Amino acid sequence: MNSEKIVLSGMRPTGRLHLGNFHGALKNWTRLQDKYNCYFFVADLHSLTTAYDQTQNLAANSQAMLTDWLTAGLDPRKCTIYIQSDVPEISELNTLLGMITPLGWLLRNPTYKEQIQELLKQKYAGQMDEKSLGEKLNSIAGDEEISSFGFLGYPVLMATDILIHQAAYVPVGKDQTAHLEIARDLARRFAEIYGTPAFTEPEPLFTSVARVPGLDGRKMSKSYNNAISLGEDLETVRKKVMAMFTDPNKKKANDPADPEGCVVFAFHKIYNPNAAKRCEECKAGALGCVACKKELFALMEPELKAFSERRKSFENDTDLLHKIVLEGKEKARASAAKTLASVKKIMRITQ
Ligand code: AMP
Ligand code: TRP
Repeated sequence: MNSEKIVLSGMRPTGRLHLGNFHGALKNWTRLQDKYNCYFFVADLHSLTTAYDQTQNLAANSQAMLTDWLTAGLDPRKCTIYIQSDVPEISELNTLLGMITPLGWLLRNPTYKEQIQELLKQKYAGQMDEKSLGEKLNSIAGDEEISSFGFLGYPVLMATDILIHQAAYVPVGKDQTAHLEIARDLARRFAEIYGTPAFTEPEPLFTSVARVPGLDGRKMSKSYNNAISLGEDLETVRKKVMAMFTDPNKKKANDPADPEGCVVFAFHKIYNPNAAKRCEECKAGALGCVACKKELFALMEPELKAFSERRKSFENDTDLLHKIVLEGKEKARASAAKTLASVKKIMRITQ
């Protein structure tokens, strides 16, 4: 560690990671642990904001994700790894910050709107027309089962995660920008209301691939069913690569096309040192999509294989994982307790 600055990030435990999590966030984490005082945590409370009725997989999903983190190179000797719900100070500060969060900030949050739309679409697929769906979306309650108090408060909890450790930098994918903005606004609002600043204003840290597209061109996400997971068998990955969306105007192999917006090209940028050359060839109509996809898979295959091999040494080592999160919990609680105590003092809840 060569800087005292604090870096913090978390992921919801959705099981095995997908390539968006891996290239958009995790790779960055492994680099940052050598430089900063890093906190990385399993955001299990956040996963309850939508999947509150699917807790049966929570423990297994957390374990699978932690195993992926270790395989990718996160090292508990270099960073603090913990589980969000193991740190009760977070829930306490979340309550306090909730009191000063204007409702409008949450209702206007684009991620909230997008996610509700997606969840509603999945729930009412084929049962409701666009207009009724739109009306449901615009009503303040949305849908009884989908939009809970906790779901609306997602950004407050995320702000709490960040502010409680005085994090200066938050390495996340581009999809988290709006959430981070709320964390910054809350830090400022607290100082304005109580006349004393209590928190460091966090800044996002993006990777060069801050938005990994899914097979269909939308952001890669488990809930969009467009993801490639690190745990997938290679034949499935190959089929998915061959089915990736490309420029719809390219009908024949030698038609010139526009690689920007093409999913395959986005992945070449990640995996192929010759991506710039492929880009020119594609524009000139000198490269067909099938050949381009085959080359991409050939580049992805060794990395995915090596990851699976490396993962074997951590798999099913529940003792190791327990030990890591227990140590992490102690460190995270100590750091969180400091901020919570000073916040309570400033708010005059304690003397
Ligand atoms: P989540 O699985 O939504 O908790 O995301 C965990 C981390 O991965 C966050 O930092 C996200 O910003 C990042 N992430 C998720 N999906 C993508 C994506 N498609 N592209 C880039 N980063 C992503
Ligand atoms: N919202 C983040 C995501 O979906 C997960 C998360 C929760 C997080 N709390 C955080 C990320 C604090 C960074 C910092 O990816």
